[in-house]
Amino acid sequence: MALRKLVAGNWKMHGVSADLAEIAAIADASRRYLGVDVALCVPAILIERAARAAPGFAIGGQDVHHAERGAHTGCTSSQMLLDAGARLTIVGHSERRDAQRESDSDVKAKSTAALSCGLAVILCVGERLEVREQGAAVPTVLAQLDGALPERSASGAELAIAYEPVWAIGTGKIPTTAEIAEMHAAIRAKLVERYGDGGAGIRILYGGSVKGSNAAEIFAVDNVDGALVGGASLKASDFIPIVEAAAGV
Ligand code: PGA
Repeated sequence: MALRKLVAGNWKMHGVSADLAEIAAIADASRRYLGVDVALCVPAILIERAARAAPGFAIGGQDVHHAERGAHTGCTSSQMLLDAGARLTIVGHSERRDAQRESDSDVKAKSTAALSCGLAVILCVGERLEVREQGAAVPTVLAQLDGALPERSASGAELAIAYEPVWAIGTGKIPTTAEIAEMHAAIRAKLVERYGDGGAGIRILYGGSVKGSNAAEIFAVDNVDGALVGGASLKASDFIPIVEAAAGV
């Protein structure tokens, strides 16, 4: 079953007022591709302005706290993201798993809280290079999913999984299409085991060094239902060719 593709940009710690015009340009250009869902996940402080600059376009956060409110200095709740105009959030990005020492159970709490609040979730998983070299990439990623998938059942409109090999993020290296196919098939089987038929409708994005020049080849792989794009999402001229590739398959 071919699912409608989702191409989401992850702006990471990039973006100030001067970049709102670029966000508007990406939103405008994306409207030409009616068959593809497009979103930009921007720094929390930019969400409200980005949502105003791009009315009707999906703006998201990059992380969320699991609690509704409370004594959590510097953190952002699901309700705050929604209130600012976000429709979705990334959880469990490997940069946060590394730098903020987020565990699978933290990611599970975040994904459960965000979905309960009405935010869609892109939940990231992915192995490190040494794990792939040891031949343990698939079981490692499936264990991450076991630990991090939300408690409640989730539909394809609410939840997407992003498979992002850590060694492919920002490096220009990508797995072979056979490696992507193997991992995405294993993730699909896990989602169906967990959510029954609903698991067949949950999109599985590939992330890590996706560019206009490699997107079509990646999107042609079975069970690749879109992409999570970092560096190449910052400029419309780099990002829109990826959206176009998603529209073409
Ligand atoms: P990249 O980042 O596209 O720059 O490799 C992807 C990501 O971290 O989501």
